[in-house]
Amino acid sequence: MVKEEPSSDYDLSLEVEPPPALEALLRAVEAARNGIVLTDPGRDDNPIVYANPSFLELTGYSLPEVIGKNCRFLQGSDNQQDEIEKLRLAIAQEKHITVLLRNYTKSGVLFWNELTVSPVHNERGQLINFIGIQNDISARLEADTRIAEFYSMISHELRTPLSSIRASLGLLDDRAEVITRHTGAENAHLVSIALRNTDRLIRLIGDIIDIRKIELGKLELNYTRFGVNQLVRDSISEVSALAGQSNVEIKVEPGGRLHLTADRDRILQVLVNLLANAIKFSEPGKTVSVRVTSLPRSTIKFEVIDNGPGIAASDARSLFVKFKQLDSSDSRRKGGSGLGLAISRSLVEMHGGAIGVNSRVGEGSTFWFTLAKQPRAR
Ligand SMILES: Cc1cc2nc3c(=O)[nH]c(=O)nc-3n(C[C@H](O)[C@H](O)[C@H](O)COP(=O)(O)O)c2cc1C
Repeated sequence: MVKEEPSSDYDLSLEVEPPPALEALLRAVEAARNGIVLTDPGRDDNPIVYANPSFLELTGYSLPEVIGKNCRFLQGSDNQQDEIEKLRLAIAQEKHITVLLRNYTKSGVLFWNELTVSPVHNERGQLINFIGIQNDISARLEADTRIAEFYSMISHELRTPLSSIRASLGLLDDRAEVITRHTGAENAHLVSIALRNTDRLIRLIGDIIDIRKIELGKLELNYTRFGVNQLVRDSISEVSALAGQSNVEIKVEPGGRLHLTADRDRILQVLVNLLANAIKFSEPGKTVSVRVTSLPRSTIKFEVIDNGPGIAASDARSLFVKFKQLDSSDSRRKGGSGLGLAISRSLVEMHGGAIGVNSRVGEGSTFWFTLAKQPRAR
């Protein structure tokens, strides 16, 4: 068999001056940081007819080594990947596709190739080429793995021992009187400080895990039908200790007997979060009110109204963004993670509702959210 010299009909080192637009296009393709190849489906086995420098850099092959070959050589013997089957089908049907493949460089090093293949047609709609764009996302996947490991460490190795510390401190705190009697009030006080801070850490870890689940789209809602009045009472009892310590009174403005179909635990979480914020930013002796009203189109509005310092309009927008705190020193002093409002916003929006704040500096704030009484088909 006569071995054919690797050749390319797309030898882009043109001997004639190309028109300026073509020259610019060529330079752009050659400068791209992604691998770019053209294949010729008119030839046997759809071989590569052009490869840009980044493709060669990515794969470690030289131009003569790749021209004339089908791209599958990058798979080595690892050619039983599900994504390859999808790719084969899309190519046969002349459709665009993006797949993630395990590929290997000339020296055998694995890289994760996020590959997009598109058919190229001429002005008569006939298939003339395929273009393949290769993106090595190994580093990104590596980083994703590290992040996943970090979250798993937080949720297991950190949360589990912390819960056991919490349980022990809780038992000690229950024996505060005995501790005071035998060892003095100072020790009982130390236990209560440790308990309070452990609770804070547990809440922070819960928030971090929630944000992660939301980001990954893994947070699922369990819809049930429940009474709103009881929900409000439960939210107030969850923050009653905080309200007591802060000497803030919580008032409820009666809103009738309303029912809601939603994830009760998650809506409780939103309400508790708004209430806790309102209490933290209220001076002792002030009042925080909860108002629930029925709006048109079967919508319920929850409002948490405080008489705190208020928020400037320019700051209000960034409040619901992850890790954004208006004044981080203030927030630290108040014991917030900066995640609560971002989580609340995601939870409300996952229900198809809206969340916001009306406020003026010096005039307190009203944090509100609306929910449909029944989940609406989306
Ligand atoms: C334009 C184009 C670029 C391609 N680039 C790659 C690639 O970078 N890596 C790879 O493993 N396969 C790539 N392929 C896919 C293979 O060439 C081949 O189509 C695939 O392995 C399925 O066919 P097979 O089952 O005959 O191998 C590309 C295909 C086309 C048309």
